Amino acid sequence: MKNFASLLKNKNKFLILGCGFSGSFFAKTVREIGCTALTSTRSENKDPNNFVFNSEKNIIPSEKIFDGVTHILSCIPPDKNGKDPVLRCLKNKLKSLPLEWIGYLSTTGVYGNTKGDWVSEIDLPNPYQKRSQKRLNCEKEWIESDLPVQIFRLPGIYGPGRSTFEAIRNKKIRVISKKDQVFSRIHVADITNAILYLLQNKDSLKYYQIINIADDEPCSQIEVIQYCYELMRLKMPKPMLFEDAKKELSPIAQSFWMENRRVSNKLLCETLGYKLIYKNYKIGLKNCFLNK
Ligand SMILES: NC(=O)c1ccc[n+]([C@@H]2O[C@H](COP(=O)([O-])OP(=O)(O)OC[C@H]3O[C@@H](n4cnc5c(N)ncnc54)[C@H](OP(=O)(O)O)[C@@H]3O)[C@@H](O)[C@H]2O)c1
Repeated sequence: MKNFASLLKNKNKFLILGCGFSGSFFAKTVREIGCTALTSTRSENKDPNNFVFNSEKNIIPSEKIFDGVTHILSCIPPDKNGKDPVLRCLKNKLKSLPLEWIGYLSTTGVYGNTKGDWVSEIDLPNPYQKRSQKRLNCEKEWIESDLPVQIFRLPGIYGPGRSTFEAIRNKKIRVISKKDQVFSRIHVADITNAILYLLQNKDSLKYYQIINIADDEPCSQIEVIQYCYELMRLKMPKPMLFEDAKKELSPIAQSFWMENRRVSNKLLCETLGYKLIYKNYKIGLKNCFLNK
């Protein structure tokens, strides 16, 4: 665990809205460093630190949930109308709080298809998919809210319990090859760690409202799958060409193959000095393999 002493010293209270894969990792880590973290899901669960927030059913957290909150992380995607669920239901509440910081997890899908070129925060977003247009609208809603928000654009998220290993074990894997196609990715631990690094050094680092969190080595899907089979000591099935596999893919799976980009992390890792824990898929997948 890195040293996040000042976050602890300030007795911060975090609300993590949308405690799914990334939110759970973040909540667990901030508790480990001694901060309070309350989390939301759409339906009730047994966790005493969890509360229900469901924008579709208009279930809004009670007033007492917000007592003493200093930091909020929203991990909730746009709703089906393309609106941000948190801003739609809670904007006025958030505006009434003395918040130090809000983090919003967005996607690098807003950059659209760059045909394999690198994209960074200074490139104009050019969303190709409808869901990415919705996402860009949500980013805009957050920026225009005048709340102290910082936006993190993420590529494919993986980590223990959600990686190619699960797809192989559950026989859901499709080994597809498409010439020159690459994907960027990020290990879930680096999302948490990078955000905490930025918070910890908030006073000494220049503030950027939009930051990519991606690893150093975008690469083809086949390389990743091949490496997983090697670690599992299994033989990888023969790859199918994308053109042949396409008709068997769901529209959403197909849509991921329609975009090809390399996401730059230079702002985070060079300008701001964050050191990735898992700088490429090999190191990250080893961690997933050992922590299955
Ligand atoms: N997965 C990826 O590879 C990827 C890549 C780039 C960006 N992102 C984005 O990054 C964020 C975090 O990703 P993730 O994979 O960690 O998310 P996730 O596991 O899918 O969790 C999403 C959370 O949002 C909650 N939620 C969804 N709709 C809601 C609504 N209308 N009202 C209230 N809560 C709602 C879910 O509630 P329940 O727990 O009740 O389901 C869940 O806790 C998301 O916005 C995601 O779209 C994901």
